[in-house]
Amino acid sequence: MDLGGLDRPPIDTTVAHSARVHNYWLGGKDHYAADREAGDAVIAAYPGIVESVRANRAFLARVVRFLATDAGITQFLDIGTGIPAANNTHEVAQSVTPSARIVYVDYDPVVLAHARALLTSSADGMTDYIDADLRDPGTILREAARTLDFGQPVAVMLIAVMHLIADADDPYGIVGHLTAALAPGSYLALSQVAADIEQEQVAKARRRYNSLARETQRHRTRAEVTQFFDGLELVPPGVVPVQQWRPETEAEAEARSTMWCGVATRSIGAS
Ligand SMILES: C[S@@+](CC[C@H](N)C(=O)[O-])C[C@H]1O[C@@H](n2cnc3c(N)ncnc32)[C@H](O)[C@@H]1O
Repeated sequence: MDLGGLDRPPIDTTVAHSARVHNYWLGGKDHYAADREAGDAVIAAYPGIVESVRANRAFLARVVRFLATDAGITQFLDIGTGIPAANNTHEVAQSVTPSARIVYVDYDPVVLAHARALLTSSADGMTDYIDADLRDPGTILREAARTLDFGQPVAVMLIAVMHLIADADDPYGIVGHLTAALAPGSYLALSQVAADIEQEQVAKARRRYNSLARETQRHRTRAEVTQFFDGLELVPPGVVPVQQWRPETEAEAEARSTMWCGVATRSIGAS
């Protein structure tokens, strides 16, 4: 695939990668010494990181349940999928609507190696995996159209991935390109690391991560995260820390995180 000169991560086990570090924090088994070193350096600077990524994962499951149940969404485009973990998007969506269609997108070759585990669709539904870069949204939309009908509502999921997109790569342009392709009644669900929650510790963690990992992180303030939803209608409770987005248990509500999130719809009146 032609990536227009985009910098794709090769399998390099000597440098930390976000998918594997995330897997380490989530208690998975798919990580190498370099990933654990970066993961531990972040934990040393900000011990709340493990609870934060778990709270984000719980948000992911809740938001897919909300989209499938309350919003009636049956098509999902999950970009920055990560290494399979508990409650992957297709599992939650198809437990509500067995005929749901899910397209996963990631650019990490380690996630690609796990794609088979992401492709275990229910008999009535469908899942697909695209090895592509979020910074190339045109390719993602073109390839996703093999499985998804963009004439009907689609939920675009950008969960814990936008902080890996630098300002130089035009993060707002990328999100705008994706949402412009959506039919009225579609949704955008997004979470990303905050620049303005537990600021000092999290900034120290970011500096340590950026000195050890292949992709650098760009944390964003609540106002900067809210800007991703421009032109869309945020559903209550708006842009909040992930644990405050419609928690289903007391434990979920009381979790600690440094992630902002929001869910918004392209209103029926939009053209
Ligand atoms: C922190 S993990 C989040 C995984 C999952 N969405 C979750 O919330 O549990 C970020 C994922 O985004 C992927 N990623 C980072 N930059 C990307 C890019 N430019 N294009 C596609 N995937 C990317 C990484 O490979 C990794 O799997």
